[in-house]
Amino acid sequence: MADTTKTATLTLDGKSYELPVHSPTAGPDVIDIRKLYGTAGVFTYDPGFTSTASCDSTITFIDGEEGVLLHRGYPIDQLAGKSHYLEVCYLLLYGELPTAAQLEKFETTITRHTMIHEQMHNFFRGFRRDAHPMATMVGVIGAMSAFYHDSTDISDPRQREIASHRLIAKMPTIAAMAYKYSIGQPFVYPRNDLDYAANFIHMCFSVPAEEYQVDPILSRAMDRIFTLHADHEQNASTSTVRLASSSGANPFACIAAGIACLWGPAHGGANQACLEMLKEIGTVDRIPEYIARAKDKNDPFRLMGFGHRVYKNMDPRATVMKESADEVLELLGVEDNPLLQVAKELEQIALNDPYFKEKKLFPNVDFYSGIILEAMGFPTSMFTPIFALSRTVGWISQWKEMLNDPQNKIGRPRQLYLGSTLRDYVDIEDRG
Ligand code: ACO
Repeated sequence: MADTTKTATLTLDGKSYELPVHSPTAGPDVIDIRKLYGTAGVFTYDPGFTSTASCDSTITFIDGEEGVLLHRGYPIDQLAGKSHYLEVCYLLLYGELPTAAQLEKFETTITRHTMIHEQMHNFFRGFRRDAHPMATMVGVIGAMSAFYHDSTDISDPRQREIASHRLIAKMPTIAAMAYKYSIGQPFVYPRNDLDYAANFIHMCFSVPAEEYQVDPILSRAMDRIFTLHADHEQNASTSTVRLASSSGANPFACIAAGIACLWGPAHGGANQACLEMLKEIGTVDRIPEYIARAKDKNDPFRLMGFGHRVYKNMDPRATVMKESADEVLELLGVEDNPLLQVAKELEQIALNDPYFKEKKLFPNVDFYSGIILEAMGFPTSMFTPIFALSRTVGWISQWKEMLNDPQNKIGRPRQLYLGSTLRDYVDIEDRG
Protein backbone atom coordinates (compact mmCIF):
# COMPACT_ATOMS: atom_id res chain seq x y z
CA MET A 1 0.00 0.00 0.00
CA ALA A 2 1.30 3.49 -0.91
CA ASP A 3 2.46 5.88 1.83
CA THR A 4 -0.21 7.98 3.51
CA THR A 5 0.99 11.49 4.23
CA LYS A 6 -2.20 13.44 3.52
CA THR A 7 -5.71 13.15 4.91
CA ALA A 8 -9.13 14.24 3.70
CA THR A 9 -11.82 15.50 6.07
CA LEU A 10 -15.43 14.46 5.67
CA THR A 11 -18.02 16.46 7.59
CA LEU A 12 -21.33 14.73 8.19
CA ASP A 13 -24.11 15.84 10.53
CA GLY A 14 -21.72 18.29 12.19
CA LYS A 15 -19.04 15.67 12.90
CA SER A 16 -15.69 15.48 11.10
CA TYR A 17 -13.93 12.31 10.04
CA GLU A 18 -10.28 12.15 8.95
CA LEU A 19 -9.70 9.82 6.02
CA PRO A 20 -6.21 8.71 4.94
CA VAL A 21 -5.14 9.69 1.41
CA HIS A 22 -2.78 7.40 -0.51
CA SER A 23 -0.47 8.86 -3.14
CA PRO A 24 0.25 6.48 -6.01
CA THR A 25 3.47 6.46 -8.06
CA ALA A 26 1.39 7.97 -10.92
CA GLY A 27 -2.21 9.14 -11.25
CA PRO A 28 -4.63 10.84 -8.86
CA ASP A 29 -4.51 10.46 -5.06
CA VAL A 30 -6.92 7.96 -3.54
CA ILE A 31 -9.06 8.60 -0.44
CA ASP A 32 -9.15 5.50 1.76
CA ILE A 33 -12.73 4.98 2.92
CA ARG A 34 -12.32 1.46 4.31
CA LYS A 35 -13.03 2.51 7.91
CA LEU A 36 -15.84 4.93 6.99
CA TYR A 37 -18.73 2.58 7.75
CA GLY A 38 -17.16 1.58 11.06
CA THR A 39 -16.68 5.19 12.17
CA ALA A 40 -19.37 7.29 10.45
CA GLY A 41 -21.86 4.50 9.68
CA VAL A 42 -22.23 5.48 6.00
CA PHE A 43 -21.38 3.86 2.66
CA THR A 44 -20.14 5.62 -0.46
CA TYR A 45 -22.14 5.49 -3.70
CA ASP A 46 -20.43 4.98 -7.05
CA PRO A 47 -22.42 2.99 -9.65
CA GLY A 48 -20.13 1.80 -12.44
CA PHE A 49 -17.11 2.42 -10.17
CA THR A 50 -16.32 5.64 -12.01
CA SER A 51 -14.38 7.04 -9.01
CA THR A 52 -13.43 3.95 -7.05
CA ALA A 53 -10.06 2.17 -6.88
CA SER A 54 -10.89 -1.45 -6.10
CA CYS A 55 -7.32 -2.60 -5.47
CA ASP A 56 -3.71 -1.51 -5.61
CA SER A 57 -1.72 -2.77 -8.56
CA THR A 58 1.76 -2.47 -10.09
CA ILE A 59 0.92 -3.89 -13.52
CA THR A 60 -0.64 -1.29 -15.80
CA PHE A 61 -1.06 2.49 -15.67
CA ILE A 62 -3.43 4.55 -17.83
CA ASP A 63 -3.69 8.33 -18.04
CA GLY A 64 -6.90 8.72 -20.01
CA GLU A 65 -6.66 12.50 -20.31
CA GLU A 66 -3.19 12.34 -21.87
CA GLY A 67 -3.71 9.09 -23.78
CA VAL A 68 -0.94 7.18 -21.95
CA LEU A 69 -0.79 3.41 -21.39
CA LEU A 70 2.16 1.82 -19.56
CA HIS A 71 2.78 -1.85 -18.75
CA ARG A 72 5.15 -2.14 -15.77
CA GLY A 73 6.21 1.44 -16.73
CA TYR A 74 6.93 0.75 -20.42
CA PRO A 75 4.82 2.73 -22.95
CA ILE A 76 2.57 0.63 -25.16
CA ASP A 77 3.92 2.13 -28.40
CA GLN A 78 7.47 1.03 -27.49
CA LEU A 79 6.27 -2.44 -26.58
CA ALA A 80 4.22 -2.73 -29.79
CA GLY A 81 7.14 -1.42 -31.89
CA LYS A 82 10.14 -3.14 -30.29
CA SER A 83 8.87 -6.11 -28.33
CA HIS A 84 6.54 -9.00 -29.13
CA TYR A 85 3.57 -10.64 -27.44
CA LEU A 86 5.30 -13.40 -25.48
CA GLU A 87 7.90 -10.98 -24.13
CA VAL A 88 5.06 -8.66 -23.05
CA CYS A 89 3.37 -11.68 -21.43
CA TYR A 90 6.53 -12.32 -19.41
CA LEU A 91 6.71 -8.63 -18.45
CA LEU A 92 3.09 -8.58 -17.27
CA LEU A 93 3.36 -11.86 -15.39
CA TYR A 94 6.74 -11.42 -13.74
CA GLY A 95 7.15 -7.62 -13.53
CA GLU A 96 10.39 -7.16 -15.51
CA LEU A 97 11.54 -7.65 -19.10
CA PRO A 98 13.18 -11.07 -19.38
CA THR A 99 16.84 -11.75 -20.07
CA ALA A 100 17.50 -13.72 -23.27
CA ALA A 101 17.73 -16.97 -21.26
CA GLN A 102 14.52 -16.24 -19.31
CA LEU A 103 12.66 -15.44 -22.53
CA GLU A 104 13.87 -18.59 -24.25
CA LYS A 105 12.76 -20.72 -21.30
CA PHE A 106 9.37 -18.98 -21.13
CA GLU A 107 8.77 -19.33 -24.88
CA THR A 108 9.69 -23.02 -24.73
CA THR A 109 7.32 -23.59 -21.80
CA ILE A 110 4.43 -21.88 -23.58
CA THR A 111 5.13 -23.65 -26.88
CA ARG A 112 5.20 -27.05 -25.17
CA HIS A 113 1.75 -26.52 -23.62
CA THR A 114 -0.16 -25.54 -26.77
CA MET A 115 -1.97 -28.87 -27.27
CA ILE A 116 -5.14 -29.51 -25.34
CA HIS A 117 -6.22 -32.78 -23.76
CA GLU A 118 -7.50 -34.98 -26.61
CA GLN A 119 -10.74 -35.69 -24.74
CA MET A 120 -11.57 -31.99 -24.89
CA HIS A 121 -12.29 -32.45 -28.61
CA ASN A 122 -15.47 -34.26 -27.59
CA PHE A 123 -16.46 -31.32 -25.49
CA PHE A 124 -16.36 -29.04 -28.56
CA ARG A 125 -18.53 -31.47 -30.49
CA GLY A 126 -21.29 -31.10 -27.90
CA PHE A 127 -21.95 -27.54 -29.06
CA ARG A 128 -24.29 -26.65 -31.91
CA ARG A 129 -22.35 -26.07 -35.12
CA ASP A 130 -23.61 -22.48 -35.35
CA ALA A 131 -22.69 -21.59 -31.75
CA HIS A 132 -20.89 -18.26 -31.39
CA PRO A 133 -17.18 -19.00 -30.77
CA MET A 134 -17.35 -16.87 -27.60
CA ALA A 135 -20.10 -19.12 -26.23
CA THR A 136 -17.94 -22.14 -27.00
CA MET A 137 -14.91 -20.52 -25.38
CA VAL A 138 -16.72 -19.65 -22.14
CA GLY A 139 -17.75 -23.32 -21.88
CA VAL A 140 -14.44 -24.87 -22.90
CA ILE A 141 -12.26 -22.64 -20.71
CA GLY A 142 -14.57 -23.30 -17.76
CA ALA A 143 -14.25 -27.02 -18.53
CA MET A 144 -10.45 -26.82 -18.25
CA SER A 145 -10.87 -27.11 -14.48
CA ALA A 146 -12.35 -30.56 -15.15
CA PHE A 147 -9.36 -31.56 -17.31
CA TYR A 148 -6.44 -30.00 -15.43
CA HIS A 149 -7.18 -30.74 -11.76
CA ASP A 150 -3.50 -30.66 -10.97
CA SER A 151 -3.35 -26.88 -11.39
CA THR A 152 -6.46 -25.74 -9.53
CA ASP A 153 -5.06 -25.51 -6.00
CA ILE A 154 -4.64 -21.75 -5.73
CA SER A 155 -2.78 -21.99 -2.42
CA ASP A 156 0.16 -23.64 -4.24
CA PRO A 157 2.32 -21.07 -6.13
CA ARG A 158 3.64 -23.73 -8.52
CA GLN A 159 0.12 -24.85 -9.46
CA ARG A 160 -0.81 -21.20 -10.00
CA GLU A 161 2.15 -20.81 -12.35
CA ILE A 162 1.30 -23.98 -14.29
CA ALA A 163 -2.32 -22.83 -14.68
CA SER A 164 -1.05 -19.45 -15.98
CA HIS A 165 1.19 -21.09 -18.55
CA ARG A 166 -1.52 -23.51 -19.62
CA LEU A 167 -4.03 -20.73 -20.16
CA ILE A 168 -1.66 -18.55 -22.20
CA ALA A 169 -0.49 -21.55 -24.25
CA LYS A 170 -3.85 -23.20 -24.89
CA MET A 171 -6.03 -20.16 -25.50
CA PRO A 172 -5.02 -19.80 -29.22
CA THR A 173 -5.63 -23.51 -29.75
CA ILE A 174 -9.07 -23.27 -28.16
CA ALA A 175 -10.01 -20.08 -30.05
CA ALA A 176 -8.89 -21.63 -33.36
CA MET A 177 -10.79 -24.85 -32.61
CA ALA A 178 -13.95 -22.86 -31.79
CA TYR A 179 -13.58 -21.23 -35.21
CA LYS A 180 -12.87 -24.45 -37.12
CA TYR A 181 -15.82 -26.14 -35.44
CA SER A 182 -18.14 -23.28 -36.40
CA ILE A 183 -17.21 -23.58 -40.11
CA GLY A 184 -17.24 -27.37 -40.21
CA GLN A 185 -13.51 -27.83 -40.89
CA PRO A 186 -11.22 -30.29 -39.06
CA PHE A 187 -9.29 -29.06 -36.04
CA VAL A 188 -5.68 -28.18 -36.85
CA TYR A 189 -3.10 -29.16 -34.22
CA PRO A 190 -0.64 -26.51 -33.02
CA ARG A 191 2.78 -26.35 -34.63
CA ASN A 192 5.65 -25.78 -32.26
CA ASP A 193 8.02 -24.61 -35.01
CA LEU A 194 5.89 -21.48 -35.53
CA ASP A 195 5.83 -18.45 -33.27
CA TYR A 196 2.77 -17.73 -31.13
CA ALA A 197 0.94 -15.51 -33.66
CA ALA A 198 1.90 -17.51 -36.76
CA ASN A 199 0.77 -20.71 -35.05
CA PHE A 200 -2.64 -19.16 -34.35
CA ILE A 201 -3.07 -18.01 -37.97
CA HIS A 202 -2.01 -21.48 -39.15
CA MET A 203 -4.52 -23.21 -36.86
CA CYS A 204 -7.27 -20.91 -38.16
CA PHE A 205 -6.60 -20.86 -41.90
CA SER A 206 -4.78 -24.05 -42.86
CA VAL A 207 -6.52 -27.27 -43.85
CA PRO A 208 -4.91 -30.74 -43.77
CA ALA A 209 -5.28 -31.14 -47.54
CA GLU A 210 -3.03 -28.22 -48.47
CA GLU A 211 0.29 -26.62 -47.65
CA TYR A 212 -0.25 -23.24 -45.94
CA GLN A 213 2.46 -20.62 -45.50
CA VAL A 214 1.85 -17.88 -42.94
CA ASP A 215 2.72 -14.44 -44.33
CA PRO A 216 5.23 -12.85 -41.89
CA ILE A 217 3.57 -9.42 -42.24
CA LEU A 218 0.24 -10.92 -41.22
CA SER A 219 1.74 -12.75 -38.26
CA ARG A 220 3.48 -9.52 -37.19
CA ALA A 221 0.10 -7.70 -37.42
CA MET A 222 -1.54 -10.51 -35.43
CA ASP A 223 1.20 -10.33 -32.79
CA ARG A 224 0.58 -6.57 -32.53
CA ILE A 225 -3.15 -7.11 -32.04
CA PHE A 226 -2.30 -9.56 -29.21
CA THR A 227 0.22 -7.12 -27.69
CA LEU A 228 -2.11 -4.12 -27.84
CA HIS A 229 -4.88 -6.03 -26.06
CA ALA A 230 -2.70 -7.75 -23.46
CA ASP A 231 -3.84 -5.79 -20.41
CA HIS A 232 -5.81 -2.66 -19.54
CA GLU A 233 -5.86 -2.40 -15.73
CA GLN A 234 -9.21 -2.69 -13.89
CA ASN A 235 -11.68 -2.81 -16.81
CA ALA A 236 -14.98 -4.71 -16.58
CA SER A 237 -13.65 -8.18 -17.53
CA THR A 238 -10.51 -7.86 -15.37
CA SER A 239 -12.59 -6.70 -12.42
CA THR A 240 -14.86 -9.69 -13.09
CA VAL A 241 -11.87 -12.04 -12.95
CA ARG A 242 -10.73 -10.43 -9.68
CA LEU A 243 -14.20 -10.59 -8.16
CA ALA A 244 -14.68 -14.24 -9.18
CA SER A 245 -11.25 -15.08 -7.82
CA SER A 246 -11.86 -13.26 -4.52
CA SER A 247 -14.04 -16.18 -3.42
CA GLY A 248 -11.15 -18.60 -4.03
CA ALA A 249 -12.55 -19.93 -7.32
CA ASN A 250 -10.10 -21.85 -9.54
CA PRO A 251 -8.22 -19.98 -12.31
CA PHE A 252 -10.08 -21.60 -15.23
CA ALA A 253 -13.47 -20.66 -13.73
CA CYS A 254 -12.24 -17.09 -13.15
CA ILE A 255 -10.99 -16.68 -16.73
CA ALA A 256 -14.27 -18.14 -18.06
CA ALA A 257 -16.05 -15.40 -16.07
CA GLY A 258 -13.75 -12.79 -17.64
CA ILE A 259 -14.52 -14.10 -21.13
CA ALA A 260 -18.26 -13.93 -20.45
CA CYS A 261 -17.95 -10.29 -19.38
CA LEU A 262 -15.71 -9.36 -22.28
CA TRP A 263 -18.31 -10.58 -24.75
CA GLY A 264 -20.65 -7.61 -24.12
CA PRO A 265 -20.85 -5.01 -26.94
CA ALA A 266 -19.87 -2.15 -24.59
CA HIS A 267 -16.57 -3.98 -23.93
CA GLY A 268 -14.74 -6.57 -26.09
CA GLY A 269 -17.82 -7.29 -28.17
CA ALA A 270 -17.47 -3.78 -29.63
CA ASN A 271 -15.09 -4.95 -32.38
CA GLN A 272 -17.72 -7.31 -33.79
CA ALA A 273 -20.47 -4.73 -33.27
CA CYS A 274 -18.32 -2.11 -35.02
CA LEU A 275 -17.81 -4.19 -38.17
CA GLU A 276 -21.49 -5.11 -38.22
CA MET A 277 -22.30 -1.40 -38.00
CA LEU A 278 -19.95 -0.66 -40.93
CA LYS A 279 -21.72 -3.35 -42.95
CA GLU A 280 -25.09 -1.87 -42.05
CA ILE A 281 -23.96 1.61 -43.12
CA GLY A 282 -22.72 0.00 -46.33
CA THR A 283 -21.80 3.06 -48.38
CA VAL A 284 -20.07 6.36 -47.64
CA ASP A 285 -23.15 8.44 -48.58
CA ARG A 286 -25.14 6.89 -45.69
CA ILE A 287 -22.63 7.96 -43.00
CA PRO A 288 -24.34 11.32 -42.18
CA GLU A 289 -27.58 9.46 -41.38
CA TYR A 290 -25.75 7.30 -38.82
CA ILE A 291 -23.83 10.23 -37.35
CA ALA A 292 -27.17 12.01 -36.85
CA ARG A 293 -28.60 8.91 -35.14
CA ALA A 294 -25.57 8.66 -32.83
CA LYS A 295 -26.17 12.26 -31.71
CA ASP A 296 -29.93 11.86 -31.24
CA LYS A 297 -30.76 11.53 -27.53
CA ASN A 298 -33.96 9.64 -28.37
CA ASP A 299 -32.14 7.01 -30.43
CA PRO A 300 -30.20 4.34 -28.49
CA PHE A 301 -27.80 3.90 -31.44
CA ARG A 302 -24.13 4.61 -30.69
CA LEU A 303 -21.20 4.68 -33.05
CA MET A 304 -19.51 1.42 -32.17
CA GLY A 305 -15.73 1.61 -31.89
CA PHE A 306 -15.93 5.20 -30.60
CA GLY A 307 -15.56 6.44 -27.03
CA HIS A 308 -13.97 4.95 -23.96
CA ARG A 309 -14.65 5.11 -20.22
CA VAL A 310 -11.07 6.11 -19.45
CA TYR A 311 -9.57 7.65 -22.60
CA LYS A 312 -10.71 11.20 -23.22
CA ASN A 313 -7.95 11.55 -25.79
CA MET A 314 -6.77 9.28 -28.61
CA ASP A 315 -6.39 5.72 -27.26
CA PRO A 316 -2.61 5.11 -27.65
CA ARG A 317 -3.36 1.54 -28.75
CA ALA A 318 -5.60 2.89 -31.51
CA THR A 319 -2.72 5.02 -32.85
CA VAL A 320 -0.50 1.92 -33.26
CA MET A 321 -3.39 -0.20 -34.52
CA LYS A 322 -4.20 2.39 -37.20
CA GLU A 323 -0.60 2.18 -38.50
CA SER A 324 -0.87 -1.60 -38.54
CA ALA A 325 -4.21 -1.40 -40.37
CA ASP A 326 -2.68 0.77 -43.10
CA GLU A 327 0.25 -1.68 -43.45
CA VAL A 328 -1.98 -4.76 -43.65
CA LEU A 329 -4.48 -3.24 -46.07
CA GLU A 330 -1.67 -2.21 -48.39
CA LEU A 331 -0.08 -5.67 -48.22
CA LEU A 332 -3.35 -7.37 -48.98
CA GLY A 333 -4.20 -4.85 -51.69
CA VAL A 334 -7.68 -4.32 -50.24
CA GLU A 335 -7.65 -0.53 -49.84
CA ASP A 336 -10.64 -0.41 -52.22
CA ASN A 337 -12.79 -2.68 -50.04
CA PRO A 338 -16.07 -0.68 -49.64
CA LEU A 339 -16.30 -1.55 -45.94
CA LEU A 340 -12.86 -0.14 -45.32
CA GLN A 341 -13.73 2.98 -47.32
CA VAL A 342 -16.73 3.48 -45.02
CA ALA A 343 -14.49 2.99 -41.97
CA LYS A 344 -11.92 5.56 -43.13
CA GLU A 345 -14.56 8.14 -44.04
CA LEU A 346 -16.46 7.59 -40.78
CA GLU A 347 -13.25 8.06 -38.80
CA GLN A 348 -12.57 11.42 -40.51
CA ILE A 349 -16.15 12.68 -40.17
CA ALA A 350 -16.41 11.72 -36.48
CA LEU A 351 -12.97 13.17 -35.63
CA ASN A 352 -14.05 16.54 -37.05
CA ASP A 353 -17.64 16.59 -35.77
CA PRO A 354 -18.30 19.04 -32.87
CA TYR A 355 -20.46 16.46 -30.96
CA PHE A 356 -17.66 13.88 -30.92
CA LYS A 357 -15.01 16.54 -30.25
CA GLU A 358 -16.90 18.05 -27.29
CA LYS A 359 -17.60 14.67 -25.72
CA LYS A 360 -14.02 13.55 -26.45
CA LEU A 361 -15.16 10.49 -28.36
CA PHE A 362 -12.22 9.14 -30.33
CA PRO A 363 -11.98 5.90 -32.31
CA ASN A 364 -10.91 3.18 -29.87
CA VAL A 365 -8.67 0.16 -30.39
CA ASP A 366 -11.60 -2.00 -31.48
CA PHE A 367 -12.39 0.25 -34.41
CA TYR A 368 -9.05 -0.48 -36.11
CA SER A 369 -8.55 -4.06 -34.92
CA GLY A 370 -11.88 -4.99 -36.54
CA ILE A 371 -10.70 -3.52 -39.85
CA ILE A 372 -7.43 -5.52 -39.76
CA LEU A 373 -9.14 -8.77 -38.78
CA GLU A 374 -11.75 -8.33 -41.52
CA ALA A 375 -8.97 -7.75 -44.07
CA MET A 376 -7.12 -10.84 -42.82
CA GLY A 377 -10.19 -12.95 -43.51
CA PHE A 378 -11.56 -13.51 -40.00
CA PRO A 379 -15.36 -13.51 -39.69
CA THR A 380 -16.71 -10.90 -37.26
CA SER A 381 -17.67 -13.65 -34.79
CA MET A 382 -13.94 -14.33 -34.25
CA PHE A 383 -13.03 -10.75 -33.33
CA THR A 384 -13.97 -11.01 -29.66
CA PRO A 385 -12.39 -14.49 -29.20
CA ILE A 386 -9.13 -12.98 -30.50
CA PHE A 387 -9.48 -10.17 -27.95
CA ALA A 388 -10.10 -12.80 -25.24
CA LEU A 389 -7.01 -14.80 -26.13
CA SER A 390 -4.90 -11.62 -26.11
CA ARG A 391 -6.30 -10.45 -22.77
CA THR A 392 -5.80 -13.79 -21.02
CA VAL A 393 -2.31 -12.80 -19.89
CA GLY A 394 -3.66 -9.57 -18.39
CA TRP A 395 -6.40 -11.40 -16.51
CA ILE A 396 -3.91 -13.99 -15.28
CA SER A 397 -1.35 -11.37 -14.20
CA GLN A 398 -4.01 -9.44 -12.26
CA TRP A 399 -5.29 -12.71 -10.73
CA LYS A 400 -1.76 -13.68 -9.68
CA GLU A 401 -1.13 -10.22 -8.20
CA MET A 402 -4.37 -10.41 -6.27
CA LEU A 403 -3.61 -13.82 -4.79
CA ASN A 404 -0.20 -12.56 -3.62
CA ASP A 405 -1.77 -9.54 -1.93
CA PRO A 406 -2.13 -10.04 1.85
CA GLN A 407 -5.06 -7.57 1.83
CA ASN A 408 -7.02 -9.78 -0.58
CA LYS A 409 -10.58 -10.34 0.69
CA ILE A 410 -13.78 -11.51 -0.88
CA GLY A 411 -15.27 -8.72 -3.01
CA ARG A 412 -18.55 -7.59 -1.51
CA PRO A 413 -19.93 -4.21 -2.69
CA ARG A 414 -22.70 -2.56 -0.65
CA GLN A 415 -25.82 -0.85 -2.01
CA LEU A 416 -28.13 2.13 -1.73
CA TYR A 417 -31.34 0.27 -0.90
CA LEU A 418 -34.50 1.90 -2.32
CA GLY A 419 -36.94 -1.01 -1.92
CA SER A 420 -39.76 -1.60 0.56
CA THR A 421 -39.01 -1.48 4.26
CA LEU A 422 -40.12 -4.27 6.62
CA ARG A 423 -43.68 -5.50 5.96
CA ASP A 424 -45.62 -8.60 6.95
CA TYR A 425 -46.34 -11.46 4.55
CA VAL A 426 -49.90 -11.37 3.17
CA ASP A 427 -51.73 -14.66 2.57
CA ILE A 428 -52.69 -15.13 -1.11
CA GLU A 429 -56.44 -14.93 -0.47
CA ASP A 430 -55.99 -11.59 1.28
CA ARG A 431 -54.06 -9.90 -1.57
CA GLY A 432 -56.22 -7.40 -3.35
N1 ACO B 1 -21.59 7.22 -29.92
C1 ACO B 1 -22.36 8.30 -29.62
N2 ACO B 1 -22.39 8.91 -28.41
C2 ACO B 1 -21.61 8.39 -27.45
C3 ACO B 1 -20.77 7.28 -27.69
C4 ACO B 1 -20.79 6.69 -28.98
N3 ACO B 1 -20.02 5.63 -29.26
N4 ACO B 1 -20.09 6.97 -26.57
C5 ACO B 1 -20.48 7.86 -25.64
N5 ACO B 1 -21.38 8.73 -26.18
C6 ACO B 1 -22.01 9.89 -25.51
C7 ACO B 1 -23.09 9.43 -24.54
O1 ACO B 1 -24.36 9.44 -25.16
C8 ACO B 1 -22.98 10.47 -23.45
O2 ACO B 1 -23.65 11.63 -23.87
P1 ACO B 1 -24.36 12.62 -22.78
O3 ACO B 1 -23.26 13.14 -21.92
O4 ACO B 1 -25.01 13.67 -23.63
O5 ACO B 1 -25.35 11.76 -22.03
C9 ACO B 1 -21.48 10.79 -23.40
O6 ACO B 1 -20.98 10.49 -24.71
C10 ACO B 1 -20.70 10.00 -22.36
O7 ACO B 1 -21.01 8.62 -22.55
P2 ACO B 1 -21.12 7.55 -21.37
O8 ACO B 1 -21.94 6.40 -21.83
O9 ACO B 1 -21.50 8.25 -20.10
O10 ACO B 1 -19.61 7.11 -21.24
P3 ACO B 1 -19.10 5.77 -20.57
O11 ACO B 1 -17.74 6.08 -20.08
O12 ACO B 1 -20.07 5.23 -19.59
O13 ACO B 1 -19.07 4.76 -21.81
C11 ACO B 1 -18.37 3.41 -23.61
C12 ACO B 1 -17.93 4.36 -22.48
C13 ACO B 1 -19.23 2.27 -23.04
C14 ACO B 1 -17.12 2.77 -24.24
C15 ACO B 1 -19.16 4.23 -24.68
O14 ACO B 1 -18.35 5.24 -25.22
C16 ACO B 1 -19.71 3.33 -25.78
O15 ACO B 1 -20.80 2.75 -25.63
N6 ACO B 1 -18.98 3.21 -26.95
C17 ACO B 1 -19.38 2.32 -28.02
C18 ACO B 1 -18.97 0.89 -27.68
C19 ACO B 1 -17.48 0.66 -27.79
O16 ACO B 1 -16.85 1.01 -28.79
N7 ACO B 1 -16.92 0.01 -26.75
C20 ACO B 1 -15.51 -0.38 -26.74
C21 ACO B 1 -14.80 0.23 -25.60
S1 ACO B 1 -13.08 -0.11 -25.71
C22 ACO B 1 -12.87 -1.68 -25.12
O17 ACO B 1 -13.64 -2.27 -24.42
C23 ACO B 1 -11.61 -2.31 -25.53
